[in-house]
Amino acid sequence: MNAVASLSGELPQEEQARVDADEAYHRLVARLSHQSVVKHFDAYADVPWDDPAYAIDAADPRFALSAADALGSTAWYQAQPAPTQARIGLHMIATFARIGWQFESVLKRGLLEFALRLPEGAPEFRYVYHEVIEEAQHSLMFHEFVQRTGLPTKPPAILGVGDRVVVGFGRRFPELFFFFVLSGEDPIDYRQREMLQSGKPLHPLIERMSRIHVTEEARHIAFARHYLRRTVPKLGAFKMTVLRLRTAITMRIAAGMMSRPSDHVVRTYNIPKEVLREAYGPGSPGATYVKRALFKPRELAWELGVLNARWTPLWKRLGIYAERGQMQ
Ligand SMILES: [Fe+2]
Ligand SMILES: [Fe+2]
Repeated sequence: MNAVASLSGELPQEEQARVDADEAYHRLVARLSHQSVVKHFDAYADVPWDDPAYAIDAADPRFALSAADALGSTAWYQAQPAPTQARIGLHMIATFARIGWQFESVLKRGLLEFALRLPEGAPEFRYVYHEVIEEAQHSLMFHEFVQRTGLPTKPPAILGVGDRVVVGFGRRFPELFFFFVLSGEDPIDYRQREMLQSGKPLHPLIERMSRIHVTEEARHIAFARHYLRRTVPKLGAFKMTVLRLRTAITMRIAAGMMSRPSDHVVRTYNIPKEVLREAYGPGSPGATYVKRALFKPRELAWELGVLNARWTPLWKRLGIYAERGQMQ
């Protein structure tokens, strides 16, 4: 501290900026915690599961994919009988819900690990516990929905690989853990917002679940982003390299899972390989969708130097690259 500043009782500019940033961050965490108290949902009290209007009929045309969807736009899909089109759409939603609750399981365990290492009295502790509770309600909701579809779901095998390692990052490498969080939450959020804004008539159960989820996920995403903005700039060179590498790979896997039918759905409806290539191969509508679904976490990666000119070849190879501000 310089002599003038210490005599007058003021902090040097740099330190003052750090104190201001700390205060703003703590205010944000307190606000998110408060929002979790005044605006939260219960999987059973807030979804009228037994209302006849909420019943699920797999042949309901509201489940069919629209022509704006990558698979929905193919001639193969459009040639299917209407009940099959609806069933494929419902089966894909059920599988996304299944992926959602498995992802949330990793998330909750990682958040609990993260909370364990926090210093006494850290404001994040309370917030993180609110988030764990909200994720548990989401998982109950998604699980109930999948049961009610009556359709068997099999998530992609990769979901079960390395989940304990990711959980451990909650404690040992939270920056990597929270980029993992955004890699999953942002593409799910993107899909649900897109559905709600499409103007397409939605089944009321899908609409209700999506609105609940979008509302609460906005808090989770805000926390992860602000936490990363605060901590990533303090990382050393080695950890930054690991973060750059693993974040790119995680984003590719997570966005891929939330953008196309699982292998199980492909087998169940005998979706031909050429159709999958047309919908999801290089230059396809599905490939564009993945880039758009990752817009927000990719922008954050640009901002924090997790993506930079040196790392663009990897992102391009993985099919998730876009210049800063592009592919929104
Ligand atoms: Fe969730
Ligand atoms: Fe979440």
